[in-house]
Amino acid sequence: MTRTSTLAAAACLLGLATTACQPAKPVKTAAAEAAHVLAATDIEAGRYLVMTSGCNDCHTPGYAPSGGKVPEAQWLMGNPVGFKGPWGVTYPHNLRITVANMPEDAWVEMLNTREGAPPMPWPSVRNMSDADKRAVYRYIRSLGPGGQPAPTAVPPGGRPTMPYEDMSIVAPKAG
Ligand code: HEC
Repeated sequence: MTRTSTLAAAACLLGLATTACQPAKPVKTAAAEAAHVLAATDIEAGRYLVMTSGCNDCHTPGYAPSGGKVPEAQWLMGNPVGFKGPWGVTYPHNLRITVANMPEDAWVEMLNTREGAPPMPWPSVRNMSDADKRAVYRYIRSLGPGGQPAPTAVPPGGRPTMPYEDMSIVAPKAG
């Protein structure tokens, strides 16, 4: 507690000043309009967001099964193993190639508007503030392009030629 706030709290207790009894109001600035991550640089903020939002779990092969032990140089290069469900089979894209071929504003626009397929958490990522979307873009750009494009998605009923995990709902057998 600062000296001023200690004095204010004491004044409040003694009934000397009523304004001192109000809880401190958070200062609202333009930057505080949308919640976003603060870090020394945008790239650091983007790295933090990527690490804590699960992007590597799907977009980096072997990341989740190895407990995250994939060198950063190999992050977000896309996954040759897809996810099969009623939407067909989708393969997590190579995001290093995506950002290399897309201006930052187009990236923000895509994350704000695309009604993409599962299990990509489109509805969650859409709710990131634009500042955070830009930070993620800048971080992925900083990794540089690398790897191969992920396999093309297969529509429902189509024949996949690449491996996939089956995400269909399985009812347990009775008994
Ligand atoms: C549960 C798996 C999963 C997670 C977690 C995930 N993604 Fe995806 N992502 C996918 C799949 C699958 C696709 C392809 C979906 C489609 O075609 O609509 C995709 C597609 C994308 C695309 C489209 C790329 C392009 O070139 O069209 C972007 C951008 C993207 N993901 C960003 C992210 C970011 C950023 C995160 C972390 C905040 C993330 N993803 C987390 C599975 C995932």
